[in-house]
Amino acid sequence: MSQSPVIHLVAAARPNFMKVAPLYHQLRRQDWCTPILVHTGQHYDESMSGNFLRDLDLPEPEIHLGIGSGTHAEQTAGVMVAYERVCLQSPPECVVVVGDVNATLAVAITAKKLHLPLVHLEAGLRSWDRSMPEEINRIVTDTLSDLLLTPSPDADENLRAEGIPEEKIVRVGNIMLDSYEMLRARIEADPILSSLEIEPGQYGVTTLHRPSNVDQAATLRLLADALKQAAQRIPLIFPVHPRTRKNLQAFDQWESLEADPNIRLLEPVSYIPFMALVRHARLVITDSGGIQEETTYLNIPCLTLRPNTERPITISQGTNRLVSVEMLVSQVQKALAGDWPTGLQPELWDGKTASRSAASLRRLLAG
Ligand code: UD1
Repeated sequence: MSQSPVIHLVAAARPNFMKVAPLYHQLRRQDWCTPILVHTGQHYDESMSGNFLRDLDLPEPEIHLGIGSGTHAEQTAGVMVAYERVCLQSPPECVVVVGDVNATLAVAITAKKLHLPLVHLEAGLRSWDRSMPEEINRIVTDTLSDLLLTPSPDADENLRAEGIPEEKIVRVGNIMLDSYEMLRARIEADPILSSLEIEPGQYGVTTLHRPSNVDQAATLRLLADALKQAAQRIPLIFPVHPRTRKNLQAFDQWESLEADPNIRLLEPVSYIPFMALVRHARLVITDSGGIQEETTYLNIPCLTLRPNTERPITISQGTNRLVSVEMLVSQVQKALAGDWPTGLQPELWDGKTASRSAASLRRLLAG
């Protein structure tokens, strides 16, 4: 008996797992294709990868490329070589990449050079800041893709402006929020607040990992000082990304943050407990992409420590505001005073993006 068409769903780093999981589960329930999970290995710690697979009910990936940390070229090239080998041995009928990490770009290039149909889920986002590695990854991946599944109208516009033919662009909504809805009951039942002995609405959540914020000593020092000041207004729970931990330690900022009575430094927190923390937070301070969207969905004030965002709908319709380090404390005070916009739910951010994506994939493969 011949197998139904194989679709590779590629995940590499922490934010990818929440995007791949709903589509993987959706396709598994359908009989017209065989989804296969490919993990490139960009994130490899239990706290950055294994715990997420488990929270999202994903199996051990059938294909694991094992390409971990390195420079951009090392990571990208490593994934290209390893993924090409996999495809030459056993080519899939279609490759789906998500998000904007280095492995997204590497797999996209490799797949297209082997003439495999390529789908980008979360296509069309642009920060217009080419100093961000993710922006380069987004632009190249979108240029190469045969089907571009977008989360919002601004993404459609960006792709049209870059000359992508209309028939390749399909707005499906925000896939990450399917993960939230899929796990809502477990998120609501998660005991993290009681285990940290904190009350709903009485704390803020902080995450930081962008190279532009954490890789230079002077910038990181300013940020650490601003967080300490903000934490005097509201205690902060701060799960620390490995890159950030390494740099806080290298730049002698770790001990004073750890000693601060208003700041709780944690290991990276898995998806379910993290969303439980965010859902009850008074506000969130972050430089993440995905958290800007999750806070808009949950109507939680989000202070984004970046000069730009590739997710402008979280500002035009949501609860997100860009803040500089100098503005952080005053913006925290503003949010605490209730002087913050309430968000609107963007269209198609409804937990049904995986089913729309699956339907588009099916049409693509039916040719
Ligand atoms: C990557 C993505 C970024 C995404 C982020 C989420 C790129 C260019 N960047 O950045 O878009 O928002 O993931 O976390 O693809 N490390 C560990 N354990 C791990 C993974 C990483 O200790 O499991 C350490 C590495 O040794 C390295 C640092 O974290 O020092 C950075 O990891 P890397 O995957 O290169 O980039 P991120 O900063 O995580």
